[in-house]
Amino acid sequence: MVRDSVRGIPAPGRAMLDPLSIEEASMLVRQVHTRNQDATDFLAVRETELPEPGPGEATVRIEAAGVSYGDLLQQRGVIPGTPKPPYVPGFDLVGKVERVGPGAGGVHTGQRVAALVRVGGYGEALNVPVERLLPVPDGVEPVSVAAASLNYFIAHQMLHRVARIERGGKILVHGASGGVGFAFLQLAALIGGVEVWGTASAMNADLLRAHGATPIDYRTEDFTRVVPRGIDAAFDPVGGRHFRASHSLLRRGGVMVGYGQNDVLRGDRKNMLVGAVGFLGGIVLPKLVPDGRRTMFYNAWSLEKAQPHAYREDLAAVLGLVARGLVGPKAVTVLPLADAAEAFAALREPGHGKLVLTP
Ligand SMILES: NC(=O)c1ccc[n+]([C@@H]2O[C@H](COP(=O)([O-])OP(=O)(O)OC[C@H]3O[C@@H](n4cnc5c(N)ncnc54)[C@H](OP(=O)(O)O)[C@@H]3O)[C@@H](O)[C@H]2O)c1
Repeated sequence: MVRDSVRGIPAPGRAMLDPLSIEEASMLVRQVHTRNQDATDFLAVRETELPEPGPGEATVRIEAAGVSYGDLLQQRGVIPGTPKPPYVPGFDLVGKVERVGPGAGGVHTGQRVAALVRVGGYGEALNVPVERLLPVPDGVEPVSVAAASLNYFIAHQMLHRVARIERGGKILVHGASGGVGFAFLQLAALIGGVEVWGTASAMNADLLRAHGATPIDYRTEDFTRVVPRGIDAAFDPVGGRHFRASHSLLRRGGVMVGYGQNDVLRGDRKNMLVGAVGFLGGIVLPKLVPDGRRTMFYNAWSLEKAQPHAYREDLAAVLGLVARGLVGPKAVTVLPLADAAEAFAALREPGHGKLVLTP
């Protein structure tokens, strides 16, 4: 990873201040930036002046930040509507409040908080609107929170808000050995009485069984021949033609929830056609057939716009589950922030478990 420095670049709108007052008002932090959308040599550690928190914001001194497969997809430019380089990756963070901006109530300095942010987790500190900050329950380690917050938050929302799965429900979870897939298994087990089928490699079959799911080896089996027709929901991060196949298994009133298109990037090869096929053939076209089966693409940020209260409710629910030791990834690897490039490389390895960066 290239290490360079952009120290001293003033924040927009501060050009008229004298340089000394900028130094006093801001703090120097290291952040990991994306430099390009290439497959290699795409991250740089930079020192940046973080300005004072603005109105309604607080500065969080970051203790841990999660790394997820979505970070890699976003950096490679395969998720429409996401930031282009240079930006600081990192969908989530946990840390301590260090500075509180004007009019920012509800948090105090020294308090440990967690937040989902669209960008910015890969750094030593970040200014975050206080309405995004949730208190971390006492006694919960920052790494445990960072390892769970994003994956369990999105799985929780899809299971409870989107598909409204209850006892007696039948669901199909693709990539059930992965970060989000495994979260679905644990959260479905907490509902109780949910019948779960999960796709994964054969080596992960026992893991799925141990968590109450019927395993399907996606490398050798056709899941549409294993899962009985008439399920309530399918949760699919694979994309492309996979969406349509998952949809074919639904009962009337059931829902296929696409939430990623991992097949757009396999190894280092991008195939944007897969994304178009998934979106048009798997999401748009099925909506035109009036057979009572639903299909949708879940997006955490869009759901938040439609249901503004959902973010705090659902993140609080996940933090509560983590505090009670009821959920958490099967394995966690902690790396220093400066090794973000190694974390990205690990994302490409099968069975990588959850990766967490600590500044
Ligand atoms: N929509 C949103 O708002 C939102 C927000 C955040 C993240 N996301 C998305 O969530 C996804 C994150 O996935 P993740 O972190 O769970 O990934 P992950 O931990 O890398 O796991 C992916 C899993 O998929 C399995 N897999 C690979 N190919 C498969 C196939 N053809 N069929 C079925 N399973 C297959 C692998 O199983 P084996 O190892 O057993 O082979 C692996 O365990 C990304 O697509 C990201 O974009 C969406």
